[in-house]
Amino acid sequence: MTLLKIARLGHPVLLQPALPVADPRAPEMQRLADDMVETMLDARGLGLAAPQVHRSLRLLVALPIAAREEPRDAAPLVLFNPELEPIGAEGEEGLEGCLSIPGLRGFVPRWRAVRWRGLDRTGAALEGVAEGLFARVLQHEVDHLDGILYLARMSDTRRLAFEAELPHLMEWVHEQTGAGDGADE
Ligand code: NI
Repeated sequence: MTLLKIARLGHPVLLQPALPVADPRAPEMQRLADDMVETMLDARGLGLAAPQVHRSLRLLVALPIAAREEPRDAAPLVLFNPELEPIGAEGEEGLEGCLSIPGLRGFVPRWRAVRWRGLDRTGAALEGVAEGLFARVLQHEVDHLDGILYLARMSDTRRLAFEAELPHLMEWVHEQTGAGDGADE
């Protein structure tokens, strides 16, 4: 397996809609999925979409964990041609980062729960339900497949911070909203 180079903010590959994968069983797709999992784990990411490794294809990998403090030893989800459908009308603001936008974190509104569908690496249909952090990660990764970065989903771009400044931002957000300090952190 190989660690892949991650495209960073400003690279046009991150801005274009990705193409469906014709056959997940193709050897190059198997290899890409393996390399993406290795690259995601190496970078300590929770998810990775193929455009982030310069492949404009509808493939994502993600760790199926509902909270950041959960152990990360679960088998990563590998999903080709994913589709999402919100469950219920409930949304929530939570913190996100992106391996393509290193060093920054921002508050992003997302659906709290989604049903996901796609093809697994054998080409078989696969579906499930995701909540909380996992639902957030899936929405973030599918956005990558549509050329959308989380920055464009923010409802208030003042809620963007360098990681080292996060405690200050959290304090400010708390003062502004009187709300909790973000469901995902
Ligand atoms: Ni990202």
